[in-house]
Amino acid sequence: MLFRKRNTTQSEAQGEEVKKSAPKGNAHYLSAKESREIAKSNARTIREFEKKNKVKHVDESVYTCEMKDENNIVEFDDLHTYFFTDAGVSKAVDGVTFSIPKGATVGVVGESGCGKSVTSLSLMRLVQAPQGQIVSGAIRFNMGDKAYDITKMPLSEMRKIRGKQIAMIFQEPMTSLNPVFRIGYQLDEMSLLHKKCTKEEAKAHSIEMLKLVGIAAPERVYRCYPHELSGGMRQRVMIAIALSCEPRLIIADEPTTALDVTIQAQILDLLKEVKDKIDGSVMLITHDLGVIAEMADFVVVMYAGRVIETGTTQEIFNNPLHPYTIGLQKSKPVVGRKVDRLYNIPGQVPNPIDMPNFCYFKDRCDRCIEKCNGEYPHFIQVSPTHRVSCYLYEDMQNKEGGSNE
Ligand SMILES: Nc1ncnc2c1ncn2[C@@H]1O[C@H](COP(=O)(O)OP(=O)(O)OP(=O)(O)O)[C@@H](O)[C@H]1O
Ligand code: SF4
Ligand SMILES: [Mg+2]
Repeated sequence: MLFRKRNTTQSEAQGEEVKKSAPKGNAHYLSAKESREIAKSNARTIREFEKKNKVKHVDESVYTCEMKDENNIVEFDDLHTYFFTDAGVSKAVDGVTFSIPKGATVGVVGESGCGKSVTSLSLMRLVQAPQGQIVSGAIRFNMGDKAYDITKMPLSEMRKIRGKQIAMIFQEPMTSLNPVFRIGYQLDEMSLLHKKCTKEEAKAHSIEMLKLVGIAAPERVYRCYPHELSGGMRQRVMIAIALSCEPRLIIADEPTTALDVTIQAQILDLLKEVKDKIDGSVMLITHDLGVIAEMADFVVVMYAGRVIETGTTQEIFNNPLHPYTIGLQKSKPVVGRKVDRLYNIPGQVPNPIDMPNFCYFKDRCDRCIEKCNGEYPHFIQVSPTHRVSCYLYEDMQNKEGGSNE
């Protein structure tokens, strides 16, 4: 069988230099021999990662770390999460660095497949194993009195944090809620697991949470199965489950995509309200710039597994710098602005198995300069909160005294 050709092998992904002869004939496909080599190499690499993941007793000092800034709840630091597939190594997250400040909402935007969900799943240690693995980098999580590097934690310890300290609201509640258990059972489970309370206390707390998320008949809904509820109610239940243990961080991965516009607005208001109530932080993943404008304090723009621009919401909306961010803004419909055709960014995201060694956006960029043929652009700090990875702003860095990471 033939697969599409790729440039990177698993061994290269781990830094080993492996030279392979390109297949003769059609350069876009892998030969059966190469496929076998990839499969063998994948099996070897995955075995090594899984061996590390399965270690149960790891001393706390191994994964205890220091936050770079105590005011952050999470710091992603050069995170690489790869998928070892039959066609080669898919670099889904390829060196992501950004922080989530305490009490803030950080919106993560970017087109489909740019690595938003994989970044959040890495934070929860829920990347689809064994093919998906955190290869390198750190994710520092502020526990209050200490900080942990989540990438080094044993899974048994991670289970104590998941749900209690970091909760996740998924895109499609029907697939996240278990269809064979009643809502009450799924809500009680959180309190019973993390709070060590009695069944009666858990039930009372669950009904309280259902009330908090605006469910009108909480006792009835407590006894319902997920299929008996509407989409909006199911998403409210998901939020109730997520908030049950008053987490320090809520990850909301496209929380309103499956809902109609009015319910969307209600769910977003609810999310804002409960965030303030528990004084937590939110990582809001969406491809909807309108949602970001309304909800987020800071914005992280991702493209092809990398962060390409970050800033406050005002900076990103009033002064977008990266040609990709500018393209995203132009492709957003605006009330009162008449256009024959909405702008769309030409071309496609490069194949994550076959990334170029220059700016990943170059093939779609209409503002290329000579330098863009060189290596991938470094970050340029244009203000204390605004940074961009693009050669067009090198002068700005010099004038404004920004730094180059
Ligand atoms: N289980 C998997 N196996 C192989 N590749 C995967 C897997 N999950 C994700 N990927 C790849 O990782 C890349 C990033 O995917 P991710 O789900 O993070 O995108 P996203 O930005 O969340 O997109 P969307 O907006 O569509 O949800 C994609 O190229 C995807 O194909
Ligand atoms: S570095 Fe060059 S190719 Fe990349 S976005 Fe900037 S101008 Fe475009
Ligand atoms: Mg996603």
